[in-house]
Amino acid sequence: MKHIISPSFLSANFGELNKDIELINKSKAEWFHLDIMDGVFVPNISFGMPIIKQIRNKTSKILDVHLMIVEPQRYIKEFKDAGADILTVHYEACNHLHRTVQTIKSEGMKAGVALNPHSAVSLLEHIISELDMVLIMSVNPGFGGQSFIEESYNKVKELKALITRKQSNTLIEVDGGVNNTNAKQLLDAGVDILVSGNYIFKSNNPVETIAQLQSI
Ligand code: DX5
Ligand code: ZN
Repeated sequence: MKHIISPSFLSANFGELNKDIELINKSKAEWFHLDIMDGVFVPNISFGMPIIKQIRNKTSKILDVHLMIVEPQRYIKEFKDAGADILTVHYEACNHLHRTVQTIKSEGMKAGVALNPHSAVSLLEHIISELDMVLIMSVNPGFGGQSFIEESYNKVKELKALITRKQSNTLIEVDGGVNNTNAKQLLDAGVDILVSGNYIFKSNNPVETIAQLQSI
């Protein structure tokens, strides 16, 4: 499978959101990455349902929703109704991860699980076959524009080995500090989806930057 680019709207210009939606619509990016932060799980607050709905109304691309919130199981249906296609919850935010994953899938969405930089890949050993996607955080969640954590390459390789061993179809997404200096190595390690915020939206020509990440 050719890799997918999922631009993170955390770095978009919310004063002219429609402009940035159009930009991504005409680009080679297949997914929109939407970061939901509650100010509790992470030390930042981003946006919620009204913005997701606004984006849903203006694109037919996949909405890849990354929840950085406590008790995500309370809002699964709301995110479905807002227009999410893929719902990713943090391992660290779920006491009953298996149940939460089943609920996401029963609502008709793809289910993803995100791992913070300190969380071991082996934590997913007994649930990997249930997951449509694993998101490896390559920065500490909460903010765009941080530096990539080099240990992430090893985590991706370990995750790829686990997925192969379990004969699962789980996709690997990497999120945080992704740019043209680390993308190739990440793809070689087994990444399927590259999330990128600052590198895309703060570049002079985001459509071109996406095309460049896509052509690696
Ligand atoms: C961080 C978010 C990321 C972030 C990525 O908590 O999950 O999606 O927006 O942005 P960059 O690519 O700027 O690190
Ligand atoms: Zn994210």
